[in-house]
Amino acid sequence: MKYLPLCFFLFLSNLLSAQVRDASKLPQLGKAPLEKVIDAMTLEEKARLVTGLGFNSTFNHEPVAGRTEVKVIGAAGATFGIPRLNIPTTILADGPAGVRIDPIRYKDSSKTYYATAFPVATLLASSWDTALVRKVGVAFGNEVREYGIDIILAPALNIHRNPLGGRNFEYYSEDPVVAGRMAAAMIKGIQSNGVGTSIKHFAANNQEVNRNNINAILSERALREIYLRGFEIAIQDAHPWTVMSSYNKINGTYTSESHDLLTTILRNEWHYQGYVMTDWFGGKDPIAQMNAGNDLLMPGTPRQVTAITDAVNNGSLKMAILDKNVKNILSIILKTPAFKHYNFSNTPDLKMHALISRQAAEESMVLLKNDTQTLPLKSGTSVALFGSNSYSLIAGGTGSGAVNKPYIVSIEKGLRDAGFIMNKTLSDLYTKHMADYQVNHPVSKNVLAQIKPIDEIGLTDDAIQDLAAREDIAAITIGRNAGEGRDRKLDEDFKLQDVEMDLLKRVSSAFHAKGKKVVVVLNIDNVIETTSWQRYTDAILLAWQPGMEGGHAIANIVSGQVNPSGKLATTFPLTYNDEPSSKNFPGTPVEKPLNVTYEEGIYVGYRYFDTFNVKTAYEFGYGLSYTSFRYGAVKLSSSTFQHRITVRLPITNTGKVAGKEIVQMYISAPVNQLDKPKQELKGFAKTRLLQPGETQIISFTIDAGQLCSFNSNSSSWIADAGRYQVKIGASSIDHRQVAAFTLPRDITVTRTAKVLAPQISISEIKNNNTH
Ligand code: BGC
Repeated sequence: MKYLPLCFFLFLSNLLSAQVRDASKLPQLGKAPLEKVIDAMTLEEKARLVTGLGFNSTFNHEPVAGRTEVKVIGAAGATFGIPRLNIPTTILADGPAGVRIDPIRYKDSSKTYYATAFPVATLLASSWDTALVRKVGVAFGNEVREYGIDIILAPALNIHRNPLGGRNFEYYSEDPVVAGRMAAAMIKGIQSNGVGTSIKHFAANNQEVNRNNINAILSERALREIYLRGFEIAIQDAHPWTVMSSYNKINGTYTSESHDLLTTILRNEWHYQGYVMTDWFGGKDPIAQMNAGNDLLMPGTPRQVTAITDAVNNGSLKMAILDKNVKNILSIILKTPAFKHYNFSNTPDLKMHALISRQAAEESMVLLKNDTQTLPLKSGTSVALFGSNSYSLIAGGTGSGAVNKPYIVSIEKGLRDAGFIMNKTLSDLYTKHMADYQVNHPVSKNVLAQIKPIDEIGLTDDAIQDLAAREDIAAITIGRNAGEGRDRKLDEDFKLQDVEMDLLKRVSSAFHAKGKKVVVVLNIDNVIETTSWQRYTDAILLAWQPGMEGGHAIANIVSGQVNPSGKLATTFPLTYNDEPSSKNFPGTPVEKPLNVTYEEGIYVGYRYFDTFNVKTAYEFGYGLSYTSFRYGAVKLSSSTFQHRITVRLPITNTGKVAGKEIVQMYISAPVNQLDKPKQELKGFAKTRLLQPGETQIISFTIDAGQLCSFNSNSSSWIADAGRYQVKIGASSIDHRQVAAFTLPRDITVTRTAKVLAPQISISEIKNNNTH
């Protein structure tokens, strides 16, 4: 062996150069046609590409011995890379209110990786401002790109079907048009950075109880008009790179295993071009998922890889199906920063994004009550600030929707910075209480941990009376938090806790006795009961979960620096039992729900309250301003519908301060073939900042698609002939202008496949159509 003959070296060098030549002949992603790249992949490689890298892969953990250094610690998942074919690993991270990655890295004290906590989706939707949401998306997407992420697992746009839904804060609205348009704006903003989105959770994922297995039983009409409509709007308008299927079943089939949903509807009817991934560990059968058109299984397990290779080998999964899924994934990988070797900085402009987060919060909060112009308050007003969350703002919810943010501006700090005088004794008391609370309740590492409202402190009557004597005004914050894995509770969550009610009553009576006022700030994830206590207050500001700059945003509204212009995109009912879904949420059997039947059908939110004349605490579309607006005469481009109708009207600021108005267009359709709600939102617009006396012309376009309802019998979207009323309003019940046009004959706008029908009959509530 010591002296090898020269011919051996010649042989070796020939072999090596042949291999190099062969490698250079391998089709490379981005250079060769996709088909050629796919042909060059082994079965194992294909199976690994359609299953993610796994939950415990190096991308989401600190480097450990034997593992290679990775680029984004704390990301939620990654796709398998195949370097020999120029296929990179791509990184997927949560979540809807900002990038969710680990802020501090192992052995790396020189740098942090915090991300901006933007306001939650429920708050953004209350802006009704697609330009603003797009602006948030542009900033958000910049952080996605600069932190080395390829696809952000957002936006989420399930429907607020029931106020107890634990993830409602991640979702926009009870209405699919608002949800779809908000999601579209967010997708456009994020994707303008050359990174991808994943709209989720497709579909009918409207509760957390038994979320991995719950079977949502609903009519084809409710599915199409309410639960799919928002996705359809967002997909067709904004083309998200990926879609995330949900955990639940729809009418008996897991969404990730449903060919009807993922192929017939999503690809064939809506012409979707991106790829579909499962929710994390969603569904059961990888082969059914492959066949359904669920291209990528996340986070990916070795068992799934084996199941897929075995299935191809034994003929139960066609190679052509696997190739199609691989192709869908590759065609998106081609667009990613990872593929383009983008040199990310890890230093997004957090300062600038904080300002955008603040602006979004300010322009979306909803002023629910403002008796005798309690707000705004003059700078220099002295404030007795009660409530634990006044000193510890809830910027956003928990779970995958949480964000590791650099700081949170509390309401107390916000008010102080805005020039209000905060009572020091109370501040010291609460600050200590919060410090003790945090020591005794460390943040759980378990993202699915139970969340309870923070304890209130006990204050004596004397202490409260003393504060009422000293300070100009009382403010009380009520906080609520929630997150994935569990739904909210009715008692002590939807309803106030006894201690909160007690504090509110005592503060109210002490301050009112001195002729002083009481303001409540709601720092909540979603709708709560307000009927039993709102009379103790003079003003209520709904701040939702406003992101990390929330305290400043609240202070700017309280001081009048910003005129509130948000309106509710979700109804506040008088009582929980008034919610139509309260009859069947979260399903049966009650001990461990397996099925949830949507007996309310299409009558979700205002569609129910308005149609059945059920009074609400604060209706859909409602919100106050420090100014007032006049809605001038509405003009339609025609009184007979041909292809479209344009609606125009002037909006004038008739008050004393500048402000923005959200103008809503509802349509009442004639009843012929189908039961109809009294009215449905078909358009909305927000004015620019109008100075006192200034007017802006607002216009809407109505096309045939906006007139139709889904007829399950004929599987078609139809517009009934007859008289359509156009109601332009400041809320769903505050209509300021009404006009009408006629549709001379029925129109079938689209025919669809007959899919996803319930297997049992549902006794859906019906309107007697007397409107
Ligand atoms: C959530 C998704 C999230 C995923 C990855 C799941 O538990 O339902 O919304 O994107 O985890 O973190």
